[in-house]
Amino acid sequence: MGSIRIDEALKRAKELLKRVSERPLFEAELLLAYALGKERVYLHTHPEAEVPWHFWELIDRRAAYEPLEYITGKVSFFGQEFLIEPGVLIPRPETERLIEELVPLLRGNERIVEIGVGSGVISTILKLKFPNLHIVATDINPKALALAKKNFDRFGVDVKLRLADLAEGVGECDVIVSNPPYIANNFPLSPNVAKYEPKEALFGGERGDELLGRIIGLFLQSPAKILACEMGYDQKMAIQKRFENFDGKLAFYKDIAGLDRGFIARKR
Ligand SMILES: C[S@@+](CC[C@H](N)C(=O)[O-])C[C@H]1O[C@@H](n2cnc3c(N)ncnc32)[C@H](O)[C@@H]1O
Repeated sequence: MGSIRIDEALKRAKELLKRVSERPLFEAELLLAYALGKERVYLHTHPEAEVPWHFWELIDRRAAYEPLEYITGKVSFFGQEFLIEPGVLIPRPETERLIEELVPLLRGNERIVEIGVGSGVISTILKLKFPNLHIVATDINPKALALAKKNFDRFGVDVKLRLADLAEGVGECDVIVSNPPYIANNFPLSPNVAKYEPKEALFGGERGDELLGRIIGLFLQSPAKILACEMGYDQKMAIQKRFENFDGKLAFYKDIAGLDRGFIARKR
């Protein structure tokens, strides 16, 4: 496509994204603003301006189901803008609930281990809220650790990173927090997730809750007092079973869609 005005380009791009997006015009606008290096409002104040050719490459990528966040390299989470890259899970809005549930239980100076740091969003928000927390964050994916480091630097927070299975070699802590992979291996994912997002961030085993089970086992044997985890909407009973003889408090929370989404376990 040669020279074409912004308003016409948006109409065409909207049609091209209809199949892959529930908000095709909005996404077309975000991609065009990104291609132009401008704010979205510019599109409406300059409808006659010319569209750069590489905008259509971005539209092609999105039309092939590549997530918008991987194309723009940005994702918003808990009101902040984080960097995101292919090979690292795109943080989901429901994970904000995990932080909201944990924050009221913290004094602000605890030793925390985050298992499965991904892009670093959970540890960053916790550190922004409580700068005196001591956080060590782990992941088995070196790409995730590298990106988490970039995000920690971006926000100026001091979080130690370790390439480790769960919390291996990390030492004692007061709180364990994790949004682990919890989807069953054979679960049919939507094409944008299946094709582009890292498998080790999604799949938790044959049933899905196997990694959660390992994290719970670790917590029960450790001196940590609190475990806060995200989980699958259908895993409440399986998690309850894993805490059958637990001499403490186990509370589940829901996401904004009203689905069971996580739990907090507190030892006496
Ligand atoms: C669902 S993602 C969560 C990422 C990030 N915390 C978030 O909420 O967006 C799960 C993360 O756990 C990591 N992971 C998977 N298995 C792991 C293990 N055995 N030990 C440590 N991290 C693991 C994955 O690489 C991935 O980054």
